[in-house]
Amino acid sequence: MPRILDGNRVRDEIKSELKPRIAALAALGRPPGLAVVLVGHNPASEIYVRNKIKTCHDLGIYSESIKPPDSISTEELLAIVDELNARADIDGILVQLPLPKQVDSKRILMAISPSKDVDGFHPFNVGALVAGLPAPRACTPAGIIELLKRNAIPISGARAVVVGRSDIVGKPVAMLLLHEHATVTICHSKTPDLAGVCREADILVAAIGRAAMVTGEFIKFGATVIDVGTNHIADRERVARIFRNSPERLAAFDKKGSLLVGDVDPIDVVEKAGAYSPVPGGVGPLTIAMLMVNTVASAERRTGIC
Ligand code: GUN
Repeated sequence: MPRILDGNRVRDEIKSELKPRIAALAALGRPPGLAVVLVGHNPASEIYVRNKIKTCHDLGIYSESIKPPDSISTEELLAIVDELNARADIDGILVQLPLPKQVDSKRILMAISPSKDVDGFHPFNVGALVAGLPAPRACTPAGIIELLKRNAIPISGARAVVVGRSDIVGKPVAMLLLHEHATVTICHSKTPDLAGVCREADILVAAIGRAAMVTGEFIKFGATVIDVGTNHIADRERVARIFRNSPERLAAFDKKGSLLVGDVDPIDVVEKAGAYSPVPGGVGPLTIAMLMVNTVASAERRTGIC
């Protein structure tokens, strides 16, 4: 059995470490403030945003959610961002992605003040990441590094393979692993012999967005496997196939009508990995924890505490 990299435990550690920092800001009469903009009614985004707001509430971070309709234009959303940029009580601005088709997402992300960009998506902060300068880091990638470090998984000198080249996970996590002295390969759907490249990995990060695509033939025996996938599967036969007819998983599916499945085959990974982050309960909880870290750090910078 591989070691389970428990994201909930690491999240709780990070939250505990934030509490005195938040108390110090509150004592100055200036608690950290996060604004989350959620456009429309994407059900997955609604759940993510609800969890972000709840975590703020638990920690004593001021938060507000702004919920414009699906029909919003780029100009209207830019006006909302501008207003939030100008607010003294708001330290972090997060515009939940994806945005509706008519909205120019890149323009929106570039309009967020880099000092309030708690997602780390602004090109200024992406540049700082590449240059190794201090700046907010993208939350899921930063969470992956915390999960590895706090479980004493060696990164320096390791062969790391990242499957997926998104701006949100693949590219930034590759850069963070490189800064930690891993030898990093980024691969994707057009990589020849994808399974063979993945089998070279001591640390394999699966961030492709395709349920259970990373099967046993992708995994070197004893590797650390980080599953970033969050695929909601509503097809019972597919769930049965992925979980080899597990009665527990099928009962869970029947109760909810869908099941959350990562990008890694959940049965194969148990047979081959030395350590792995499960879905749910692995990387997921850390994305929100790192958003809280970025928000508190932004408040500290903006109030001059550090
Ligand atoms: N949608 C999925 N993940 C994220 C994230 O980390 N930040 C934002 N803003 N939107 C997302």
